[in-house]
Amino acid sequence: MDLETFEQLMTPAGQLLLSEVAERAGVESDLALGTRLRKTYVPELVAAAVTQNHLRGKAATKFGTDAAHLYFTHDALEQSTRMRVATHRATRLASTGATSVVDLGCGIGGDLIALARAGLAVRGVETDPVRAAIAAANLAALDLPGEIICGDAQEVVIGRDEVAFIDPARRDGRGRTFSTADLQPPWEWVRQLLAGRAVAKVMPGLSHDAVPNGIEAEWVSDGGDLVEACLWGAPFATTSRRATVLPSGAGLVSAGEPVAVADVAEYLYEPDDAVIRAGLVGELAATISGWLPDPHIAYVSAEHAHDTPLARGFRIIEELPFREKSLKAALQAHRVGTLTIKKRGVDIVPEELIKKMKLKGPHKALVVMTRVQGQGAAYLVERL
Ligand SMILES: C[S@@+](CC[C@H](N)C(=O)[O-])C[C@H]1O[C@@H](n2cnc3c(N)ncnc32)[C@H](O)[C@@H]1O
Repeated sequence: MDLETFEQLMTPAGQLLLSEVAERAGVESDLALGTRLRKTYVPELVAAAVTQNHLRGKAATKFGTDAAHLYFTHDALEQSTRMRVATHRATRLASTGATSVVDLGCGIGGDLIALARAGLAVRGVETDPVRAAIAAANLAALDLPGEIICGDAQEVVIGRDEVAFIDPARRDGRGRTFSTADLQPPWEWVRQLLAGRAVAKVMPGLSHDAVPNGIEAEWVSDGGDLVEACLWGAPFATTSRRATVLPSGAGLVSAGEPVAVADVAEYLYEPDDAVIRAGLVGELAATISGWLPDPHIAYVSAEHAHDTPLARGFRIIEELPFREKSLKAALQAHRVGTLTIKKRGVDIVPEELIKKMKLKGPHKALVVMTRVQGQGAAYLVERL
């Protein structure tokens, strides 16, 4: 969609077309609807309205009910922050006493919306003219105040009272990179901003070594998906590493205490990926009076059942043999026909092992295969 088409979509006629598409999509086939609407509207506008309606449906997972009022492009939707995650960040930033933010590369405004809703005065800067126009339209659609500037973020003068927020794009456009060298605006510039009142969202694969000194790195997961590392500039940092698990908002911070290692007890916990990426498995163990069965594997064991959003818990029903033949015999004795294997730190491919064992029986089973003090170990478990 080019800027002209988007501007047409924002006219009263374009809005009428968009509501007609929303009403009729699913009632008429895309083909019938498109053919009929092209008799009244130019084909580019019809195509844009149909795409917009489709993207609004797709965006509901990230933006909830707001999605039906917002505008997107396919790539910008992919790159936008989930509203729950953006809201978590915006709320934290507002709680520091910050009053205004400039979003340096705001895309279609995912973060900008959350920042404005948290009560911060917002300015968004975006190089792409279509995205800039969409960001402005999205703020307006939700009746939120804010200014959008179409231009290069690196040229913008940041106000004395403004916090800089940066969610750099991945240069390959596919939305995923593990290298800071691919970020746009460039990582070096982001690093410099982080020395002051700045917050940056980067890929969750960021290595601990890449986090500048004095900066807090917060790994965030949402609904079990590890989604980002948020870097809090020195004035906002309250720890060096943090894990936040949404939607509960449960968190852990680095304590640097020594991690206890001991044998597996009745309960086993698989930490959330945010906890693992933040390197806080030891801290998680401490919160549930647990320990690590193996110092190099991200499983925690404890004597008691704990209900925590920071980990998935399992009760160990029985220790099983690790070797394939004996494992198969043990599972056959339990009349297991449907098996799920969770593995960590061992060189097996669960699907292949399950296939090879050719189990038959009426029962389902969940088995954890891992390494304990250097040795392979298997446990028949049930979810807490
Ligand atoms: C990952 S997206 C931002 C998504 C946004 N946080 C959201 O939730 O919708 C990054 C954006 O930065 C923009 N961008 C990259 N370099 C820029 C620059 N130098 N100046 C302004 N915008 C830039 C890209 O066009 C892209 O839209």
